[in-house]
Amino acid sequence: MQGHRDQVTDTAYEKRREEIAALSADVTLHGPIPVVEYIDWEHEVWRLACAALDARHRVDAAAEYLESAEALAIPLDHVPQLRDVSDRLTSISGFRLQSAATLVPLKEFCGSLANSVFRSTQYIRHPRAPLYSEDPDMLHDLVGHGNVLANDRFVRLYRLAGEAANRVESDEALQFIGKVFWFTLECGVVRERGERKAYGATLVSSYGELDHFRGAEFRPLSIESLVDVKYDITTYQPLLFEADSMNEVEDLVGSFWDTCDDDSIAALFSGASRSVGTRR
Ligand SMILES: [Fe+2]
Repeated sequence: MQGHRDQVTDTAYEKRREEIAALSADVTLHGPIPVVEYIDWEHEVWRLACAALDARHRVDAAAEYLESAEALAIPLDHVPQLRDVSDRLTSISGFRLQSAATLVPLKEFCGSLANSVFRSTQYIRHPRAPLYSEDPDMLHDLVGHGNVLANDRFVRLYRLAGEAANRVESDEALQFIGKVFWFTLECGVVRERGERKAYGATLVSSYGELDHFRGAEFRPLSIESLVDVKYDITTYQPLLFEADSMNEVEDLVGSFWDTCDDDSIAALFSGASRSVGTRR
């Protein structure tokens, strides 16, 4: 497994993922983050992906993403230890990271955010495709999410999403809060001096998404317009929501998460409260 990435078989890759996931089987929210001894092909995949993304970010990423990423300064030439990135993040913004064995259920994931903890994977994508990951790996979690969590505005938004998810009881409300998260903190686009720039984690951590996103259908960001929208996390996004500024994102989305509850979300679905979350 120390060899070049071309030599890693699917079986060896699966075994490696299971090994890394097993380290986090018993972690607690504020407990120590396991240390992973990363091997040659993992460092190589990290370097290749980070170099490609770094070049694209200068063109495609929103200014607040770039500033926050510069402050966190995740190494591009080797896989960092999650605990080192977490320590640096905590010293900048108060947010911290904790490892996750695999995808964390939505309620638990959001509950962690309310406690200023982002749950990150520690495994790296398949070496066959350094620029693509079909599910979130550590590169997605750190380059996409970690990089914005050094910014106070994003920290507020992540916390508010977590608090909203903790507040609701119905699955419908929880799923809708998750949908708002998807179209903003995962796939959000903002206009800067007339140009579309990505700030969502799924876009900024994916070379392919950055290549494709300007070809999507764009709609103005509003909470109510998300009610009837469906999405598929396994393909390039054909529909994205754009805001005129990050202030607008914070106004619309932050105030929705700050005040929503089961009743207000049920009202949105019934069409009885069409003024909730509309553009100001
Ligand atoms: Fe994500």
